[in-house]
Amino acid sequence: MTAVELEPNPLLEGLRSARIPPPSCVVIFGANGDLTKRKLVPALYALASEGMLAPGTTIVGAARHEITDEQFRSTMRADVAQYGRLPVADEVWAGFAQGLRYARYSLSEGGGAHLASVLDEADRTRGTAGNRIFYFAVPPDAVVPLADWLHDTGLSDVADGSFARLIIEKPFGRDLASARELNENLHRHYREEQIYRIDHYLGKESVQNLLVFRFANGIFEPLWNRQYVDHVQITVAESIGIENRAAFYEHAGALRDIVQNHIMQLVALVGMEPPSNFQAETVRDEKVKLLRAVRPIHPDDAVSRTVRGQYGAGWVDGERVVGYREEADVNPASLRETFVAMKIEIDNWRWEGTPFYIRTGKRLVKRATEVVIQFRRVPHSPFGGMQMLPEGALPHDAIDPNLLVLRIQPDEGITLRFVAKVPGQATRIRTVNMDFLYGTAFLRVSPEAYERLLLDCMQGDPTLFAREDEVIEAWRFVTAILDGWRAHPPAAGQFPNYEAGTWGPEESFEFIERDGRHWHRP
Ligand code: BG6
Repeated sequence: MTAVELEPNPLLEGLRSARIPPPSCVVIFGANGDLTKRKLVPALYALASEGMLAPGTTIVGAARHEITDEQFRSTMRADVAQYGRLPVADEVWAGFAQGLRYARYSLSEGGGAHLASVLDEADRTRGTAGNRIFYFAVPPDAVVPLADWLHDTGLSDVADGSFARLIIEKPFGRDLASARELNENLHRHYREEQIYRIDHYLGKESVQNLLVFRFANGIFEPLWNRQYVDHVQITVAESIGIENRAAFYEHAGALRDIVQNHIMQLVALVGMEPPSNFQAETVRDEKVKLLRAVRPIHPDDAVSRTVRGQYGAGWVDGERVVGYREEADVNPASLRETFVAMKIEIDNWRWEGTPFYIRTGKRLVKRATEVVIQFRRVPHSPFGGMQMLPEGALPHDAIDPNLLVLRIQPDEGITLRFVAKVPGQATRIRTVNMDFLYGTAFLRVSPEAYERLLLDCMQGDPTLFAREDEVIEAWRFVTAILDGWRAHPPAAGQFPNYEAGTWGPEESFEFIERDGRHWHRP
């Protein structure tokens, strides 16, 4: 499977320029935080380098401490050089830096005066016309006070023809009740269309391609159901640990950090029905329908129907790493899970009886996110005894099933695994792979997820953001498990139950093998 990129097409170039959004002020609250320096400003710089930002676009870093615009610019330049995907070019940076501002703020009375004056100045001198994007790169408990404050100070007021949008980072609540409360609190002053709940997985090219792959090709969709698919596997494996995020992770854990958002979004995209068009509401309606069809796991069954894990010390990428409980600022007796596996069942016509197995963990063998569609085996094999098996495998007559592996990251691509005849006089058969690799088919580096998502928000396109009801449905499913886990914490001595640098607890293998299935090794 090879796709070759066509020569630049004037029509497509037209489309590209149509994506340049109107100039706005992008205010990043939490300007001194990690997200700003690692992701947000590098993404905005990449957009500027590629000519995707209108010239007047102004980026305002906002935080509590006092620094000058110049100091902010030079810190950001160093961060873009360190974390950005494109090298910093002097002439591009010069233009970008002209639109970089810093404003200190505090939620006290009058604490918005500086920010207000910076925004006014941008409207007057850079043509931002009252358009505002407020990026909440702040801790979860700061979200509602900040949203209220923006309203009370009038900073989020919208003049005729302009817009004010809020981008809210995950975690969006910590369970069903708090997510509902957060939605209600935000809706006190903001309409749903103004709220952009970001899940950066949706901005990844390979995740967006899931829908294109499914609905722009005629050959897969007829097979994409219980009749032909035996089961689906979704793996989000990370080799990194918690990276100085103990304060966050001790409260979150893998279920909240990855399953509630990234994995449930992947489940929705893989499982949803075809939308009739690519409009935000049509796509999100279909995703919500799928999430509503996910069979709840009752709290009483949470322990038996899921696998929890926590890493101990081990070796990752040739380096000795400590266990979760030895990480800085982690409780040495912590029961927080760094690994989860479970079976998700979907109660609808398409998927009844075809489970989705999901797993995620920190400090696993390697970083790999993939979706595997395992098709049903052939009903009868005329090739008994002819299959060549990997060394050590037990001979069996059953032919390997076809697999479609959608590699989300790294090495983004798609592999179709099927059986072929081994060349030679004898009839011997073996499984082979047909590969599509983004890197070779498209001679262009994919943009970072945050680039696409920031651009979409500037355009007012919420398709790749989570709507209120999506978040609620995902929390409904996850909260029942959290409740069950809370009532039955891991027994003394149960954690840690996997060594860093492995594929997770033994129990996660037994869990899927009980159903006669095996994890695909990325
Ligand atoms: C974040 C989680 O949402 O996603 C992190 O909070 C995780 O714990 C990260 O490491 C993974 O993102 P990516 O894009 O590297 O797969």
